[in-house]
Amino acid sequence: MKEQFSCTILQSEALTKYLLETSAYPREHEQLKELRRASVEKYQHMSVMNVPADEGQFISMLLKLMNAKKTIEVGVFTGYSLLVTALALPNDGKVIAIDPDREAYETGLPFIEKAGVAHKIEFFDSDAMTTINKLLDNFKQFDWIGGRGTFDFAFVDADKENYIKYHELLLKLVKVGGIIAYDNTLWAGTVALVEEDLSQEWLEQIGANRVYLKKLNTFLASDSRIELAQLSIGDGLSLCRRLK
Ligand SMILES: C[S@@+](CC[C@H](N)C(=O)[O-])C[C@H]1O[C@@H](n2cnc3c(N)ncnc32)[C@H](O)[C@@H]1O
Repeated sequence: MKEQFSCTILQSEALTKYLLETSAYPREHEQLKELRRASVEKYQHMSVMNVPADEGQFISMLLKLMNAKKTIEVGVFTGYSLLVTALALPNDGKVIAIDPDREAYETGLPFIEKAGVAHKIEFFDSDAMTTINKLLDNFKQFDWIGGRGTFDFAFVDADKENYIKYHELLLKLVKVGGIIAYDNTLWAGTVALVEEDLSQEWLEQIGANRVYLKKLNTFLASDSRIELAQLSIGDGLSLCRRLK
């Protein structure tokens, strides 16, 4: 039987609802709630691109456990994970946020400002590869940010086709001991399915990304430069700790 489309990788939609309503939403920061509402209002079904509240809470705890001070985010959209990050960083922390879509970023910006953390964010409306290469090449204009080996954490949530290319660049940008996190690495569970098991609806929804993410997962599993932990949270989150 062909698989039916579902947005959750958990056993059921009911379990996802239970998890969010019982533990995640009651602890979600008011401005994160507001930002999510504004995303849904403006972008409707596309608002599923925001990371879910439980994943946001995991990222927040991880950043605090690591004492992260400087992070980079590839793929901002309306800024749910960005606001999560800015709230978790210390007052003098910095997050370099990159997305060519300034309009989406500005949709979430009023909530980031209301939360009092806008000063921790440097937003670049560009393609991430271009900005990361500039950071690595120590471009004069980026002196104040600092380049190679200076970032504690990177969150990659865009441009799935190029995840392996980002990996090579980000391994140079994060410190030894720093973490690169790749989102959507279980791609709604479809990475485990063979093409014949996928309905036309599924194939239309998931496109080529399933193939890119399968390649990434295999690649990361054999990369000796990192310690790897792939979590079944949200849509799958792969944590790569730089070892050398
Ligand atoms: C899944 S959304 C990000 C969601 C966000 N992390 C959140 O939790 O709200 C992906 C975003 O990546 C952006 N994007 C696409 N290609 C990109 C690229 N080459 N560099 C940077 N961002 C890109 C899109 O404009 C889109 O806003």
